Amino acid sequence: MKKHFPLLKNQKNLSYLDNAATTQKPKICIDSIKEFYETSNANSHRGLYALSLKATKIHEWSRQYISKYLHVKSEEIIFTKGTTEGLNMIAIALEPIIKKSDNIISTELEHHANFIPWQQLAKRKDAKFKVVKYNEEKQELNNISKLVDKNTKIVAFTGMSNVTGEILNIENISKKIKLKNPKTIIIVDCAQLLAHKKLDLSKSNVDFMAFSAHKFYGPLGIGFVYGKYKQLEKLRPFLYGGNMISKVSNKESTWNSIPYKFEAGTIDTANVYAFAKTIEWLEIKDVNKLFKKEEQLKKYALKELEKTGAKIIGHKNSNYGSVISFSIKNIHPHDLATIADKHNVCLRAGHHCCQPLMDRLEIPGTTRISISFYNNKEDINKLIKAIKDAKRLLE
Ligand SMILES: Cc1ncc(COP(=O)(O)O)c(C=O)c1O
Repeated sequence: MKKHFPLLKNQKNLSYLDNAATTQKPKICIDSIKEFYETSNANSHRGLYALSLKATKIHEWSRQYISKYLHVKSEEIIFTKGTTEGLNMIAIALEPIIKKSDNIISTELEHHANFIPWQQLAKRKDAKFKVVKYNEEKQELNNISKLVDKNTKIVAFTGMSNVTGEILNIENISKKIKLKNPKTIIIVDCAQLLAHKKLDLSKSNVDFMAFSAHKFYGPLGIGFVYGKYKQLEKLRPFLYGGNMISKVSNKESTWNSIPYKFEAGTIDTANVYAFAKTIEWLEIKDVNKLFKKEEQLKKYALKELEKTGAKIIGHKNSNYGSVISFSIKNIHPHDLATIADKHNVCLRAGHHCCQPLMDRLEIPGTTRISISFYNNKEDINKLIKAIKDAKRLLE
């Protein structure tokens, strides 16, 4: 598979195991950006000349392709810069509906991008912010609904942890939340999950989801929010400017239709197109088969890591994707990452933007590997060699 990814093809010695941070880009992604600029570059949705109409057509084809992949309506896809912007955008847009007596729920497993926006929204509105505790053994996050009451306005949780790799049962959790309070708005951070699981949102109870293209083999700097149409209809715009208006006068302004109402300013059509073409390519390659391949490699990595004496967080059952956090006794994660780099192994060390989780685990950080379908046993073997080297040098 590495042959389809120019960076990996050009740097044959590299074992890239930091895919949860960002994935490498297949040739189709890079070529599509070039193709757009060489054949179709104009500002979409604005000009009446043929080139701009062509850019608009490409933009909307991409939206449609992505919406079909998720089994939703194309109007329900709003382009953003990524998950962080998407989640903040939803929090800002929901602000008017939050009252002092309300509560907002999030979890200790969250990336800061799906934690701080809700914590700060609750603060701004003097509402209560409730946090579901993380418990490695009991997997309590599947019981988020226990905290839901008649005043719960928002529940925001992750589809897959960027630290432990834990995959939450989104539909089960959402169903239970809606049973307790049908008015609660459910928001899921899918930054990691999209790259490990195919989602069918056609019958989902989830109201909003946020995604980043760069974590799913697409380009940097682009992402999208999925919002249920009936929820989007209730939302005010969160950015004002070009293309999102219907009419502007000295006294009043009215808004464009959904999704354009939420897409103020120039959107990066080259990247939007490259992302849709990347998903199309992944589908041709059989995305489920690719996910199975990385699952097999994850099992191999777990087995080999255990042999080194590494302490692995979670992964005691099958509710985990191919993201593994671990620690090696007496070796600081940063030291291990530096030694791994000498072996041409890219891995991640630190708190992974998840400080509430680190507090709960009572550790400053972890070492993390995150596996893609383009990785192979040789990458894992190099990692194990680096760990052995670190142990020899530092233990
Ligand atoms: C679970 C999760 N949520 C949100 C984000 C933020 O994504 P981005 O930096 O693409 O906005 C990340 C990035 O690592 C993540 O892993």
